[in-house]
Amino acid sequence: MWHASILTLFPEMFPGPLGLSLAGKALRDKIWRCDARDIRAHATDRHRSVDDTPCGGGAGMVMRPDVVDAAMDAALTEGVPRPALFLTPRGRLLDQALVRELSAGPGVVLLCGRFEGVDQRVIEARGLREVSIGDYVLSGGEVAALALLDACVRLLPGVMGAAESAEEESHGASALLEYPHYTRPVEWQGRSVPPVLLSGHHAEVARWRRAEAEKITRERRPDLWARHTGTETSARAIAG
Ligand code: ADE
Repeated sequence: MWHASILTLFPEMFPGPLGLSLAGKALRDKIWRCDARDIRAHATDRHRSVDDTPCGGGAGMVMRPDVVDAAMDAALTEGVPRPALFLTPRGRLLDQALVRELSAGPGVVLLCGRFEGVDQRVIEARGLREVSIGDYVLSGGEVAALALLDACVRLLPGVMGAAESAEEESHGASALLEYPHYTRPVEWQGRSVPPVLLSGHHAEVARWRRAEAEKITRERRPDLWARHTGTETSARAIAG
C-alpha cells in the first residue's frame, strides 16, 4: 500500500478532498494510506510550542528544528523508508516527472510548513527535498501537499482506468498540452463542434487533435514547446 504521511499543524485537513472521488475510492480500496500527523504532538514544553521568533529578528515565526525532527522520526519508524519532502515556495517546481517518480516508490513523508518557515538545520539534517507547486504563496504547505498527493495517487496501479493510464504513458518528457474537447449538442449558443470531429475519419480526427495540441502548446507554453521540439529532433537523430 502506497503510504503518505503528512506532518502538519492541521491534520484535520487530510484526507479532505482526497477522501472523495477517484482518490477516495483508492483510499477505501487500500491502494494508498493517508496518515496525517499533528506536529504539535511532538512539542516538549508546557506551552506545547512548535515555533519561535526568527534569529536575527524580523516578522513572523519559525518552526523549531527539534519538534519537526521528532515528528519526522515518528513518521519514518513506520514501514519502509520513504522520501521526505518539504512543501515550500522556495522548492523546485513540481512536475509530472517528479510525480511519476514518487508514485512509483513506496510513498512519501510530507512536511507542511506554516508561519515564516522551518529552521534550515532540520531541512539539511533530514535531507528534505524542497518542492513548490507553483510561483505563488499559499498560507501553508497543506494545500500544496493535497495537490501533490492527488497527482501521485491517480497514477497508482488500479486507480485509473486502463485507457487513461495508457494515455498517461504517452505523455513522456515531451508532453504537449491537451487539444480541446467537445460533446453534444452539436450546436450550442451559435457555436458548432468542429466538423472534423463529426466526420468519423479517425486519422483526420487524430491529425486535427495533434495540430490543435501543438498550436495551444506553442501559444501558451513556449517552454514546453521548446522541450517538445528538442526531444522530437533528438528522436529523429537517434532514428537516423
Ligand atoms: N507553501 C506555501 N506556498 C507554497 C507553494 N507555492 N508550494 C508549496 N508549498 C507552499
